[in-house]
Amino acid sequence: MELTSEEKDMLEGKHGNAVRKSMEILVALGNIFGAKQLIDVASVQIAGVSYHNLGEAGLGYLSELARDGKVRVLTTLNPAGMDMENWKNLGISPDFAEKQERVIDAFKKMGVITTCTCTPYFIGNNPRFGEHVSWSESSAVCYANSVLGLKTNREGGPSALASALTGKTPEFGMHLDENRQAEIAVNVSADIKTVPDFGALGYAIGKKIGKNVPLIKGIKNAGTEELKSFCASIATYGGTALFHMEGITPNQTAEPGESVDIAQQDIDGAKAELNDADEIDLVGIGCPHLSLKEVSEVARMLEGKKVNKEVWICVARPIKRIADQMGYTKIIEDSGAKFACDTCMAVAPLKGRFRGLATDSAKGCFYGRGKNSFKTKFATIPELIEEATR
Ligand code: F3S
Repeated sequence: MELTSEEKDMLEGKHGNAVRKSMEILVALGNIFGAKQLIDVASVQIAGVSYHNLGEAGLGYLSELARDGKVRVLTTLNPAGMDMENWKNLGISPDFAEKQERVIDAFKKMGVITTCTCTPYFIGNNPRFGEHVSWSESSAVCYANSVLGLKTNREGGPSALASALTGKTPEFGMHLDENRQAEIAVNVSADIKTVPDFGALGYAIGKKIGKNVPLIKGIKNAGTEELKSFCASIATYGGTALFHMEGITPNQTAEPGESVDIAQQDIDGAKAELNDADEIDLVGIGCPHLSLKEVSEVARMLEGKKVNKEVWICVARPIKRIADQMGYTKIIEDSGAKFACDTCMAVAPLKGRFRGLATDSAKGCFYGRGKNSFKTKFATIPELIEEATR
């Protein structure tokens, strides 16, 4: 890979230890994937923030980089293992909290914005169409490439942090226009309207096409919330980092040669597969983290009601601050539901505390099952509120 003289200096340690280590990661990745050069990135989103996933080894690595590392571009963080302010109320142990705080402190020392969310595009990490970024978190990556028209590979936590500390990423994969063309058309004849419909659609398409880039046809309308849910689901169940949706997403693509069909029975089958819980003791809303519109709708639905089970409303903290200002927080908390900022019901260490999770997120079902061994119920937000207040 061709490096500029500044990049060579970075690799040789002339810009400090953290930059040297970061350049070593980026150059190694670039060489593995055949990149010709490094390119500048406009922003970074780092995953792998929960102490639950990092452990002592991960924390040690971050602390070492934090000795002299400083981010060079706007950098935000994925959800952590707990709400950084309200962890006691959500039943997190002081021991775990102390370790999670050390992780966040290391990021803060490097200049990372320490609000933790999987919807960084709702809180100002929102570069313009066509810019190169280095994001991790599969749903955010899919949203960035497909809905915002940014260009990013599906980074891991260490490579995203390396980009943050250098402002660079190797140019391969999704950074090259030839890799952003649709590889397979998906003809959807099913009726797709609600957020869970879009989650089930992502499940059904993901299972059929894997990591291929699809051109999806037949969707009449999709708002931010539906696309957010779809991105989370297709990236989880298939692994694609980019899709095109005819008439809805902004990127251009040539017509692919191959095609598959998605019918109503595929959507019904996906929904049936995501419903295996007999009993619900946790309702989790906000995977990916809720938009302000969704928070206002939840407040309207909960007004004057009381919940009879644990209900988590997962949002980015800046969205909750607006909810505080608008009175939505008071309405939601008066019902007994709890806000979970900075975290979610899948990354928080909840194994053994709850058995059945009800959620409107197909991705939430996947990780709730895999990480916390929950059985799941998959339903719309109004159905979840009905379940929680019955
Ligand atoms: Fe976000 Fe947690 Fe879902 S990180 S996408 S709310 S599993």
